[in-house]
Amino acid sequence: MCGITGYIGDGIALDDGESAANDGATGDAAGDGGGFARVGDIVHEGLRNLEYRGYDSAGVALVGEASGLTVAKRSGEVDNLTVPDVADAALGIGHTRWSTHGPPTDENAHPHTDCVGDIAVVHNGIVENHEALKTELSDHEFTSDTDTEVIPHLIEEELAAVSGAGGLLDAVRAVESRLEGSYAICAVRDGDDRIVVARRGSPLVLGHDEDATFVASDVTAFLEHTRDVTYLEDGDVASLSAEGVEVYADGELVDRETETVTWEADAAEKGGYEHYMRKEIHEQPESLRQTIAGRLDVDAGDADLDVSFPPGFLADLEEIQIVACGTSNYAGRYAARLFEDLSGVRATVETASEYEFGAGRSPDRTLVVAVTQSGETADTLGAVRRANAAGARTFAVTNTLGSTVTREVDDTAFIRAGPEIGVAATKTFASQVATLTMLAVAIGRERGALAAADARPVLEGLRDLPGAVQQVLDNEDAVREAATEYGDSGAFFFVGRQLGVPVALEGALKLKEISYDHAEGFPAGELKHGPLALVTPDTPVLAVLTDGARADETMNNVTEAQTRGAPAIGCVSAGEEYATLDVSLPVPDVGIAEPLVANVYLQLFAYHVANDKGRSIDKPRNLAKSVTVE
Ligand code: F6R
Repeated sequence: MCGITGYIGDGIALDDGESAANDGATGDAAGDGGGFARVGDIVHEGLRNLEYRGYDSAGVALVGEASGLTVAKRSGEVDNLTVPDVADAALGIGHTRWSTHGPPTDENAHPHTDCVGDIAVVHNGIVENHEALKTELSDHEFTSDTDTEVIPHLIEEELAAVSGAGGLLDAVRAVESRLEGSYAICAVRDGDDRIVVARRGSPLVLGHDEDATFVASDVTAFLEHTRDVTYLEDGDVASLSAEGVEVYADGELVDRETETVTWEADAAEKGGYEHYMRKEIHEQPESLRQTIAGRLDVDAGDADLDVSFPPGFLADLEEIQIVACGTSNYAGRYAARLFEDLSGVRATVETASEYEFGAGRSPDRTLVVAVTQSGETADTLGAVRRANAAGARTFAVTNTLGSTVTREVDDTAFIRAGPEIGVAATKTFASQVATLTMLAVAIGRERGALAAADARPVLEGLRDLPGAVQQVLDNEDAVREAATEYGDSGAFFFVGRQLGVPVALEGALKLKEISYDHAEGFPAGELKHGPLALVTPDTPVLAVLTDGARADETMNNVTEAQTRGAPAIGCVSAGEEYATLDVSLPVPDVGIAEPLVANVYLQLFAYHVANDKGRSIDKPRNLAKSVTVE
């Protein structure tokens, strides 16, 4: 997830005390006590507002009639970037990056340009077919490791073939139709007085001010200047000029509604949500799309995480040991079953702080997989160091490029979920499980343990996951009602079987972390071996009743609890019905990914229970986002 923004207009006169201007490059005084923000200042400010979407490098491209195209970019946070003071700039675009292809270096920072530096492009998303396109562009000079860089070069090719006033717009339209994957793009060109933008799968919104237009991944970028916005739709290409905006869909000029944003500035930072946690729960369709982009080959029944193991290593592999803490540990538990079922390898999960390599195991036949969102958790790093010391091959699944874990393991797969600010992990759990599922398929296929025909339904489930999660999010009201009805209970029990167990554990962890209520998760079959003694009408049971979680047997255990008076809330595969449930929440059909979708209901349940109680949801008491002590 990256942040992109753009502005076309004459700059903004600031009132006294307004802070739009870039610290270093403020323009002329406006004359009545305030300052004046030039194009570069406005774009820079937009990037600061979008930094929650990524902050490992930043850059801008400014276009002025006399000055031409000026590009500045560098690694590091947005404030590391000095935006050039281009007095005649009439338009500009900017980008703040969360790396997916290539490390956060100056070269990989956006904007990217064509061979002669006439065209500049910023991009959010992933161009899945960039390798093929790059091969086609073999006579072009590439200077970065990014997927994005193919876009300005493709535009360059198109412009060489297209002439006339519609040049950049036509070229972007032609290029857009050749890109596979998800993207939001802004393109500018030396000598052109337009910004051309396009979206498919990644968000893009226009802001309308008198004689000026803004564009950004999120209204947060420009909300202090205008509240009149147009949300572009997938497949839209728009041309922004001083005269206004033209939006095209399927080559036809279309009208897109303008609406007025009513959020206050504080809510706007959270995309209109009251808390980052809820925003991040709602970001899951987008973050999951990024996680899987370019990595699934459903037809071939394979997944590619761009990792290669030494020859013979996977064939001889005896055991996968997963080490992780908290939510990441539960993602690991989900994956352990998949490694056994799909990769045909024995898999164990250890709480990282408890991990020792273990006597009687062969280090050269063991893969130790560290799952860590931050890549900085001391307990997990300790486990990786013990595995390395034992001579095992180590692998990290993390969200954070350049984090410590990536420097200490042999290989890394990034989950590409984008920054997560809420202390309680939500979208990163989903992306961890999706990444680990792809790893399980890739290992299974390479070992010959998994037939393409058996891999295909798993990959189809992953492909359909973003849409399925969206359906759950669209049903949020049902969860909110359940949270209001049962939120004041004495304790909560979460149960499931098989892939439902880690989700039950995660559901309970989420609730206790942010609501401070007592909650416990366990395998449904265990209910009768002790915890049933605690069950009363004041202890709701939340159950995962989906594919991959032996739903009928789990329902038997839920009924045992209901017999003792407990209310029951079930996440149930769509089309199935358990008439006795007090609340039934439908889970779309995505096969073994269904428990992961059910988890989104549990995240929302925890959120609404905590919110009704007025808890400090984004910063729960006693907890930290990254735990760097053992
Ligand atoms: C729970 C939560 C924690 C983390 C744990 C590991 O919502 O966020 O349990 O999952 O501290 O953190 P990472 O994944 O950064 O190693």
